Amino acid sequence: MKILGIETSCDETAAAVVEDGSRILSSVVASQVAVHHPYGGVVPELASRKHIEAIVAVVEEALEKAGLRTDQMDAVAATRGPGLVGALLVGFNFAKAFAYARAIPWTGVDHLEAHIYSVFFGDEVPGLPYAALLVSGGHTSIYHVKNHCEMTRLGETLDDAAGEAFDKVAKMLGLGYPGGNVISELAERGRPGKIQFPRAYMDKAAFAFSFSGLKTAVNRFIQTHPENYHELIPDIAAEFQAAVIEVLVYKLMRAAEKTGCRDIALVGGVAANRKLREELAKAAKDAGLTLFTPSIDLCGDNAAMIAGLGYHLLKDGDKSPEDLSADVYSRAARG
Ligand code: KG4
Ligand code: ZN
Repeated sequence: MKILGIETSCDETAAAVVEDGSRILSSVVASQVAVHHPYGGVVPELASRKHIEAIVAVVEEALEKAGLRTDQMDAVAATRGPGLVGALLVGFNFAKAFAYARAIPWTGVDHLEAHIYSVFFGDEVPGLPYAALLVSGGHTSIYHVKNHCEMTRLGETLDDAAGEAFDKVAKMLGLGYPGGNVISELAERGRPGKIQFPRAYMDKAAFAFSFSGLKTAVNRFIQTHPENYHELIPDIAAEFQAAVIEVLVYKLMRAAEKTGCRDIALVGGVAANRKLREELAKAAKDAGLTLFTPSIDLCGDNAAMIAGLGYHLLKDGDKSPEDLSADVYSRAARG
């Protein structure tokens, strides 16, 4: 079954063709980073307009790369939420219209569940159930995944998401937007521990996260060292990154222990962070667990994960009704 996937929840217009939930025939991602860069963050109205401009060309490119025509698509899957509602509506309504015109089934996919599904494109895949850490620009949560469409959220961030903290710290240091990648590159040259920032474990037995105190600590350091903080940027980046990673690794390992899962997964935009992958792989090895991560190109927002999970939803008979609309909340929050 060949599924056309569409993703427009934030600042990437993406389309992909995936066969039987696992074979990626094409995956096209058009980033709007250059559009939002001058503003230091995503401007929702601009995002919606850019999705409208890009969606047709991105879908055409995905079909062309897959070597397929529109009439060879068996179904369509589009991100339903969570995300920016104006942005979501573009891809979601495009998908509905596409399916209606071709008289094929379509389904709305939860963006967070799709990120979690992104580990199922590898040669080795986790056994069910597994514990997953989702770290992106909008979310930081831990899940107990029973199957592709049934998962329990064990905890989430009480304030900023991990990626958001990377982006905000990068902004404070004048490193531009988005900042995750820049911070991680600078951190490679820095000395963690040279400057000390706090680790926010919250309740060590629970799965809540908080990154706002860490962000404030970085800001305070900048304010109190106006004359020399510039030279210390790699050290600031390394210690900030170490503080985030330590807590993320600890909580995912705790989740595996609590749920008894032997397989764990790291997904979302921040999963592209080399140091985080490395530290988690070490911790997993020490505990005798197996870590699964998506390839780097599947960590950030993409439509292959939408088409992949969409396949399983459609197979389970989850054809969305014509009047289903986009939703800014995650399926878990919808109840
Ligand atoms: O999953 P994603 O593409 O979009 C959302 O659904 O939010 O995640 C984007 C986030 C941004 O905050 C970006 O700074 C962060 O992922 N990110 C990274 C790295 N690459 C991207 N954070 C830390 N280290 C990286 N290498
Ligand atoms: Zn995402």
